[in-house]
Amino acid sequence: MISSLDIQIEKNNQSRLQNIDFSNLSFGGVFTDHQARIAFVDGEWKTPEIMPYGPIEMLPGAKILHYGQGVFEGMKAFRYQDGKINIFRADKHHARFVRSCERMNIPGIPFELFLETLKSLINLDREWVPKEKFKSLYIRPFIFAIDGSLGMSTSLNYHFMIICSPVGNYYSEGIKPVKLTTMPEYVRAVPGGVGEAKVPGNYAATLKPGAEANKAGYTQILWLDAIERKYVEEVGTMNIFFYMNDTLVTAPLKGTILPGVTRMSVIELAKAKNIPVEERPISIDEVLEAAETGALKEVFGSGTAAVVSPVGLIHHKGKTVTLDQEKMGPLAQEFYDTITAIHHGEEEDPDNWCTLV
Ligand SMILES: Cc1ncc(COP(=O)(O)O)c(C=O)c1O
Repeated sequence: MISSLDIQIEKNNQSRLQNIDFSNLSFGGVFTDHQARIAFVDGEWKTPEIMPYGPIEMLPGAKILHYGQGVFEGMKAFRYQDGKINIFRADKHHARFVRSCERMNIPGIPFELFLETLKSLINLDREWVPKEKFKSLYIRPFIFAIDGSLGMSTSLNYHFMIICSPVGNYYSEGIKPVKLTTMPEYVRAVPGGVGEAKVPGNYAATLKPGAEANKAGYTQILWLDAIERKYVEEVGTMNIFFYMNDTLVTAPLKGTILPGVTRMSVIELAKAKNIPVEERPISIDEVLEAAETGALKEVFGSGTAAVVSPVGLIHHKGKTVTLDQEKMGPLAQEFYDTITAIHHGEEEDPDNWCTLV
């Protein structure tokens, strides 16, 4: 086990903190003073290094640049009133990272090494963790293949890194329910592919369809399954929930959607509140019909960035259903309030969801 003593730290001699306007933070626009790196070389994890945030060197032939052998995560840390910092569901994010790595034939970083390095980095940059409720430190762990050869084969060597960025309240300008459209001419993931892994190509491939959806006036795409183009899968960077007939319905984890950590939290909280949850295929026709009959009470997305994001409109093949255009539904609001209270230590940690630094 690597302890924090085994981490090499080179401190930044001039913090950039005083230049940052914490009242006006864009997502991932500024980074903290330091970054962490752990090399995986010659079959083993080397000593973690923490160094000033800055450019990294890479060979032009590095496999990540050509074949995309890399994985990333997205997680957050929050400040409690007493100054402690909570890394939210670190074990679940690590577990998903390792599963994504497995799919990409990348060695899985041990939890201890991941967590101790992350804790040291956050501790060093702890003044960067915003002090106001709903603001947070976004954490981006990632790993990429560094072997500089163009052979289409698994890289032997990797760099794992962590960078952190303070982020503002997602709803600083008020709640804006998202407008979704299906795009049956495009697919995000196929069974047996990499849809459940958090890999760069999954996102790059959605940029063009996403731009088309934006141009047509929609916020994001509601992805349908690749085979029948009928079952609802997920949204850009969110899982999706339908509250209908007093039951919470969401797509099952069958390999084509990202297994969201917020999705897991919402399901666990719903079960604790005795709200029935169904993880099952749900067709877009069922959704539209439930909207028409009034059985569909709420639709919301779940994800680390927004926690819970209400859906105000769904468009599919010329048909549009509108939900609440102004605010979150009561159930979505309940999840949002509970999860954000847990984030900031105002509500009891349900089951080791919080790792304190
Ligand atoms: C494609 C996709 N689906 C769902 C999610 C939600 O996952 P989480 O709740 O872990 O942030 C994300 C965000 O990471 C995502 O990128």
